Amino acid sequence: MKKKQVLLSGMRPTGPLHLGHLVGVLNNWAQLQQEFECFFMIADWHALMSEYRHPETISFYSIDNVRDWLAVGLNPGLCVIFKQSDVAEHLELFLALSFFSSLSWLERCPTYKEQIKQLKNKDILNYAFLGYPVLQAADILLYKAQKVPVGEDQLPHLEICRQLAQRANKILKKEFFLYPEPLLTEQPRLLGLDNRKMSKSYNNFIALSDSMQVIKKKVMHMITDPQKVKRTDKGHPDICNVFAYHRVFGKHYYCDYPQRIKQIEDNCRSGKLGCVECKTDLAALLWGIIEPIYKRREQFNDDYIKGILKDGSAKAKEVACATIKELKMMLGLI
Ligand code: TRP
Repeated sequence: MKKKQVLLSGMRPTGPLHLGHLVGVLNNWAQLQQEFECFFMIADWHALMSEYRHPETISFYSIDNVRDWLAVGLNPGLCVIFKQSDVAEHLELFLALSFFSSLSWLERCPTYKEQIKQLKNKDILNYAFLGYPVLQAADILLYKAQKVPVGEDQLPHLEICRQLAQRANKILKKEFFLYPEPLLTEQPRLLGLDNRKMSKSYNNFIALSDSMQVIKKKVMHMITDPQKVKRTDKGHPDICNVFAYHRVFGKHYYCDYPQRIKQIEDNCRSGKLGCVECKTDLAALLWGIIEPIYKRREQFNDDYIKGILKDGSAKAKEVACATIKELKMMLGLI
C-alpha cells in the first residue's frame, strides 16, 4: 500500500471556535484525515507569544478547541491530536532553525509588520515574536510534513518555512528537511455579526458552543439594509449581512440551495420578506448546522479530552524525537 503523505496544521487556542472556523477550516480537516497521515496541533506556545501577559484562558481553550475538533468529526483513531507544549522537541528545533533564520526574512514578513501595527497593546516588540514563523516552521519540519492546510494569511509563514528548510539542507549538506506545500483552504469572506471584521476581540461571531437561544439573540441583533425600515420596504440583499450569511451557510444546509437563495433575494427586493422573518429563518438555519456539533460537544468531558491529548502527544513525540536525534547527530551534538 502506498504510504500516505504527512499533513500538519495547527490553531492557536486563544478563544472559542466559530462558524467561520467550521466552514473555513474544520470541515476541511475532517475530510483530510481520511486521505493523509494527519497531525493536528494546539499551538499553545504560539498563543502565548501574543498573550503571555494574560495566559489565563489558554489552557481552557486548549481543551475546549479540541472539544470542537472532536465534535465536528476529527477522529483520534485516524489523526494525531496533540498540544505543542507537550512535545518539547518543537522548541529544540525552533532554536536550531534560528541559526538558519535571516533577520531580514523575519522583519520583512507581512504578518509580522501587520501584527506589530495592530497589536500595539500586547508588547510583541520582542525577540520571541519575531521568531513566530520559525517556531511554525519547526512545527512542520519536525514531522516532515508535506502538506499544510492553511488560510491565505499564513502563506508567508510557509514560504519562510521552505526557505529555512532549503538553507538548513544546504548548510547541513543533506536533503534532510522536506519542502512543505500549502493546501489552501478557501475561507468564506464573512463579516462579523456587527458588519465589522470577524474577530475575537469584537466578540461578533457565532460560536460552535452557542445555544439555540444565544444564536437567536445574536442573529436578531444583526444589522440589515438600513433603508429597509418597514417589512414591506424594498430591500437590497447585496449590501445585507444577513443575506450574506444565508448564502454562505445555506450552501451547507439547504438541499434546494440555489432556488432557496434566489427566493430569499427576490422576496427581499420586492418587499415580500421582512427582516425579522428573514433573521428568524437564518437563526433556524444556523442552529441546524450547529445543533449536532453542540450536542456532540457534551459527550466529551475534560478528562476524556486530556486523555486524547496525552495519547496524541506520545505519538507525536515519537516522530519528533527521531527527527531531533538525527539533527543532533548532524550538528555534532551526539
Ligand atoms: N500560525 C497559525 C495560525 O495562526 C497556527 C499554527 C501554528 C500553524 N503552527 C502551525 C498552522 C503549523 C499550520 C502549521 O493560524
